[in-house]
Amino acid sequence: MSDNTPRRRIDVNSRVHLSEIRASDKAAFVRHLSDGDICHYTFRIPFPYSESDAEQWIRFVAGITEDYGEPTKFAIRDPDEYLIGSLGFDGLTKGHSAEIGYWLAKPYWGHGLMTDVLRAACTFAFDQWNLVRITAYVFPFNKASQRVLEKNGFQFEGLLRKHHKKGKEFLDAKLYALVP
Ligand SMILES: CC(C)(COP(=O)(O)OP(=O)(O)OC[C@H]1O[C@@H](n2cnc3c(N)ncnc32)[C@H](O)[C@@H]1OP(=O)(O)O)[C@@H](O)C(=O)NCCC(=O)NCCS
Repeated sequence: MSDNTPRRRIDVNSRVHLSEIRASDKAAFVRHLSDGDICHYTFRIPFPYSESDAEQWIRFVAGITEDYGEPTKFAIRDPDEYLIGSLGFDGLTKGHSAEIGYWLAKPYWGHGLMTDVLRAACTFAFDQWNLVRITAYVFPFNKASQRVLEKNGFQFEGLLRKHHKKGKEFLDAKLYALVP
């Protein structure tokens, strides 16, 4: 990613903030996503996760950023700017809706971080892009993520049977949406 990457900072709390994804985040992506639990709970992250996966992802994000003219996928960073997770918007239609997705590195789970991150990111997205709806898809067994969504006012809209194909398996997904 070049130095021309549009910058963005979204404040969350004293422990974390969001900013654009940078080429220098490669090592952190590989380190955190080498834990198979993140892949287990998410839809599209490969496992095992290699350096080349991280390079491909960073290039992909740079392309999307260029298309939109601003970041739509973010690093979750600690106060030292170290990437400890990520959150992004897919299918963004300004003036209408987007889908949100996120993960946090395992050592940081269970401290209320994602609840705060999601709140800040949704507030930002509603204001910045004039959204009226943000959706999230969650595996039914992912209780922590459902709780994070519910704590942020997302409502369960339905069970989507065999919605997702992961490897050779067809998996159900729960659809949540925040419509303020
Ligand atoms: C889901 C994830 C982002 C949550 O991040 P986090 O910072 O640990 O979340 P928080 O601490 O803000 O909140 C977690 C909530 O889930 C609850 N929880 C955790 N495990 C749970 C379980 N097995 N059953 C029920 N509730 C559970 C916690 O108690 C907490 O709720 P509370 O505040 O009411 O006590 C993190 O676990 C993660 O990255 N998981 C892997 C990737 C992933 O699942 N991404 C989302 C895909 S949809």
